[in-house]
Amino acid sequence: MPTRTRKTAAELRSARWFAPDDLRSFGHRSRVKQMGFWREEFSGRPVIGIINTWNELNTCHTHFPERVEDVRRGVLEAGGFPAELPALSLGEQLMKPTTMLYRNFLAMEVEELIRAHPVDGVVLMGGCDKTTPALLMGALSANVPAIYVPAGPMLRGHWRDQTLGSGTDVWKYWDDRRSGLLADKEWGEIEDGIARSAGTCMTMGTAATMMSLAEAMGISLPGASAIPAVDAGHKRMASASGRRIVEMVWEDLRPTDIMTEAAFENAIIVDMAIGGSTNAIVHLLAMAGRANVPLSMDTFDRVAGDVPLLANIKPSGSYVMEDFYYAGGLPALLAQLAPRLHLDAITCTGATLGETIAGKEIFFPDVIRGLDNPVKPAGGTAVLRGTLAPDGAVFKPTAAEERLWVHEGPAVVFRDIRDLKARVDRDDLEVTADSVLVLQNAGPVGAPGMPEWGQLPVPRKLLRQGVRDIVRISDARMSGTSYGACVLHVAPEAAIGGPLGLVRDGDRIRLDVPNRRLDLLVAPDELARRRAAWVQPPLPGGDRGYLALYRRSVTQADKGCDFDFMAGRPGEMPEPQIF
Ligand code: FES
Repeated sequence: MPTRTRKTAAELRSARWFAPDDLRSFGHRSRVKQMGFWREEFSGRPVIGIINTWNELNTCHTHFPERVEDVRRGVLEAGGFPAELPALSLGEQLMKPTTMLYRNFLAMEVEELIRAHPVDGVVLMGGCDKTTPALLMGALSANVPAIYVPAGPMLRGHWRDQTLGSGTDVWKYWDDRRSGLLADKEWGEIEDGIARSAGTCMTMGTAATMMSLAEAMGISLPGASAIPAVDAGHKRMASASGRRIVEMVWEDLRPTDIMTEAAFENAIIVDMAIGGSTNAIVHLLAMAGRANVPLSMDTFDRVAGDVPLLANIKPSGSYVMEDFYYAGGLPALLAQLAPRLHLDAITCTGATLGETIAGKEIFFPDVIRGLDNPVKPAGGTAVLRGTLAPDGAVFKPTAAEERLWVHEGPAVVFRDIRDLKARVDRDDLEVTADSVLVLQNAGPVGAPGMPEWGQLPVPRKLLRQGVRDIVRISDARMSGTSYGACVLHVAPEAAIGGPLGLVRDGDRIRLDVPNRRLDLLVAPDELARRRAAWVQPPLPGGDRGYLALYRRSVTQADKGCDFDFMAGRPGEMPEPQIF
């Protein structure tokens, strides 16, 4: 473990607020004393901001009020001064039109919370989908010592003799219900049993993916990401994180020391091996932008092309995150991947990744597979390019029927989500199992916020014929718990003039995943005519306030959908003036 020069109390960032013998610092000290603290409790000690993304409408973070106290206990034990800083919560289920619209909002809030307050280090509490990338983006920009406490997955869902997986089994049983196979009583029982405790979705959705990738990058404690939210071990992990962040302040161990290019490449490899959510690509691109790490869509294919799928977790496999935890969790999976990883990457403990995962065992070999027995030989996410997606698109082969990996068919076009809802289940929709469903204007600018509309429903007409998968293409995202032959994140998006917006009913489209191609088989002169006649569709949601800022500044999916004015320059956060 490399030794780091320890900070002195006088070098603490908070000393600027509390140490000087002047009128302004008198005010700062007297007001902390107003809360009942002695000067010795907060001055000369690391002040630790606990950035808590809790609210009563984020159903996945309901244990955070208790967990804050666990973190606080750890900070106090280690000689720090804890201060909870509530931040915007992004509850995936109840926020509309999509939490993705607000990821950058939370990232900016995190950076500004850190900048404006006398904190020396922060504990980042998140888990529900966008909270993780947002917290890490903000922490990277601020670049004070930070440790991430993942919310952890909820317990497995349960219905009669079945295990239920968040999202994944909802889509499955919803198709059964739409095709008349599931009555009200059974549907109600599934609703009762699918979300049984605090914690995030327990399939390998975006939440579990991003928690896993944060751990793989070393910004949370080893083994933290899979601990079920209600397990006593989760409380111990929270207090240990509180203890560790105090030491990280003294060691001056910062996010950019941990989330390096090597760490991002490790994250991409792990993303493939866990069958991670397609959303991870957008989030990793945005986080890398904040860290000044050169990452692009092409990096994903270069780094991860042949990484096998080792985590047998829904939607790509059979089990859920609770099983993954009992099987050894992420450290056991990382140990299998060791030959592929940058083992010298530094983690938040100060140890290297190699030291961290050495000797970690698998306890249930069907849940976490070895390289010699993968769930599927090639995992993860394919990056596609072609005339329909000049700047890229993504596809998750492990979540789609293999017969559709290479497919050519006629387009059935829906101009937006309202058009889709109105027509997809009509009996007169001209669609066959060979059709390619196209949803336009569902991207970052068009929707707005690039919602998870990319798993277009299989038309009811086809469901009745027994069809359960069909090629679907959009500039939207897809829930990490979803599955199907869905081409996502098409860039540039339809609403800013991308080729996706030029597709018409009956156009032939060719998908070729092995060769990473997505092509619109329309003659160039005809496409040029359509482009010349194209006018931007009306953009829903109005044009004032945050939405106006968002639309003006959001980048496309291949750049991570961050704001164009937020990328880069970590560690150069201008400190506030104190007068
Ligand atoms: Fe919060 Fe899925 S709804 S993680």
